[in-house]
Amino acid sequence: MKIVFATGNEGKMKEVRMIMGELGMEILSMKEAGLQLAIEENGATFEENAMIKAQAIADVMDDVIVLADDSGLEIDYLNKEPGVHSSRYMGETTSYDIKNQHILDLLKGVEEQKRTARFVCTIAVIFPDGEKKVVRETIEGQIGYESKGSNGFGYDPIFYVPEFGCTTAELSLEQKNKISHRGKALERIKTIICNSLAGQK
Ligand code: IMP
Repeated sequence: MKIVFATGNEGKMKEVRMIMGELGMEILSMKEAGLQLAIEENGATFEENAMIKAQAIADVMDDVIVLADDSGLEIDYLNKEPGVHSSRYMGETTSYDIKNQHILDLLKGVEEQKRTARFVCTIAVIFPDGEKKVVRETIEGQIGYESKGSNGFGYDPIFYVPEFGCTTAELSLEQKNKISHRGKALERIKTIICNSLAGQK
């Protein structure tokens, strides 16, 4: 049994392989599975978008476990934007240096207590027999006052985690996976898949 993960993002695949690798199953990205699908993420919630992506793959592949995630950054001061629009925020091709600086500018002068934010990750799983599940996990933090760190991707350099005293871009991948929205969601999905393989779905 193989797992196909609906993403073309190599940063995500790295995190996925590190966590799901323990299952001992082959884990393929869409590209590795030979799929070139343009999937429109037009859901209103992270859960809907994850399921839309998983379903699009399940529709064209047999005998695989399909996983798809949808994630993003919710900034309370910006009414939870960019939210489900996180990757499209300010345009898909705009660099994160520019996006992150724009967010820092929007929050200029905003006091610490009002800078709360979270990364959200939902992961949908569809089993070969059609059974579906979706999980949601978050990591709470704050928008920092400047970009810091070069690990990770996307909004990591401006996402400050008070309990670690640094941004998620300053954490190693191992450290980030232990506390991150995606790390926690992947751990839950791993348990769901383990239980399913053990026949206790
Ligand atoms: P998705 O690929 O549609 O799930 O879009 C997720 C977007 O949310 C990414 O392109 C990033 O902009 C942002 N994002 C999600 N997770 C993270 C993370 O762990 N670090 C930084 N940015 C993230």
